[in-house]
Amino acid sequence: MASKGKISIIGSGLIGRNWAMLFASVGYNISLFDIDESRIDDALVDIKQQLNSLESKNLLRGSLNAEQQFSLIDKCISMEECLRNSIYCQECVFEKLELKVQVFQQIDKYVDDKTVLASSTSCLLPSSFSANLNHKSQVIVAHPVNPAYYIPLVELVPAPWTDEKVVARTRELMTEIGQKSVTLKKEIEGFLVNRVQYSILNECYRLIAGDYVSVEDIDSVMCDGLGLRYAFMGPWETAHLNANGMKEYFEKYSKGIYDVSKTFGEIPKMEGATADHIANELTSRIPLEKLNERRKWREERLIAITQLKKTLDKH
Ligand SMILES: NC(=O)c1ccc[n+]([C@@H]2O[C@H](COP(=O)([O-])OP(=O)(O)OC[C@H]3O[C@@H](n4cnc5c(N)ncnc54)[C@H](O)[C@@H]3O)[C@@H](O)[C@H]2O)c1
Ligand SMILES: *[C@@H]1O[C@H](CO)[C@@H](O)[C@H](O)[C@H]1NC(C)=O
Repeated sequence: MASKGKISIIGSGLIGRNWAMLFASVGYNISLFDIDESRIDDALVDIKQQLNSLESKNLLRGSLNAEQQFSLIDKCISMEECLRNSIYCQECVFEKLELKVQVFQQIDKYVDDKTVLASSTSCLLPSSFSANLNHKSQVIVAHPVNPAYYIPLVELVPAPWTDEKVVARTRELMTEIGQKSVTLKKEIEGFLVNRVQYSILNECYRLIAGDYVSVEDIDSVMCDGLGLRYAFMGPWETAHLNANGMKEYFEKYSKGIYDVSKTFGEIPKMEGATADHIANELTSRIPLEKLNERRKWREERLIAITQLKKTLDKH
């Protein structure tokens, strides 16, 4: 097999493992580093098992078999070696600002002017950990959604000093590994996914706090209603089709949306009686000891939906 190039993964936890599998699926060599060597060993055992299990279910991505994909992933016990001749580095350490600052300072020492330096961070702004780096124009956030093997979205967030070429290169790589990237034009707290998610959580919370609806029924609004469409079209296309085009939608509904939106109320703190009520409702529906079982249930559905979308998109 001719080498496609080397990808460095810093941190071999849940997200590091996912990235390793995604890059290996199209034939990149992966160098997997973790400060805790035993975690790399654990990761390799887990990755091997996951790849074999995917293969047996016919869900393995790419054209290489599980063994070939696994052989592309190398354990690396020094960060310097991990980064040597790397074309792309994906940082996946704990979500702590001081740690990201420290890890990026280390990375900065070992890379040349070409390596893309991506962080998996879910909420830290790229400017917050890259400001003092020599290679700061190479830093970008590439935030995946868990489980990334089944959820293609990756949010790309540039810092104010990120080179446009780095953004383009990262976007290209994401497409190549079968992920769907969306690009922020500039950084903002919460990026896109969490801003949209939080606005939904806020309103669902207010409706329960105001005693308008049960926890179960508001969940149904998503999974038995809005969510079905949102699995394949966004809010704008939904609106476009719900009227005779977007222009008519605005003409017809803008005022109504504005009037209802004025009644939304304050940003909830999500603590106290309503929070307790929601937590109790959820734990009685899904007890904590059943969470893993329910996560499996979720995964099965995600896989089925992902496959259905792939099949439908072929026609
Ligand atoms: N878990 C998720 O659902 C999710 C989703 C999207 C993004 N993220 C982001 O991905 C990143 C990693 O999350 P995770 O869930 O994989 O965490 P994790 O706790 O599973 O793994 C983190 C790993 O980093 C290693 N580490 C710590 N310090 C290190 C250092 N100095 N050098 C090298 N390795 C070091 C740890 O040993 C550990 O193995 C975080 O920034 C997180 O916000 C997580
Ligand atoms: C990439 O991985 C393959 C398979 O393990 C290996 O034969 C090859 O030497 C690796 N290439 C590099 C540059 O590490």
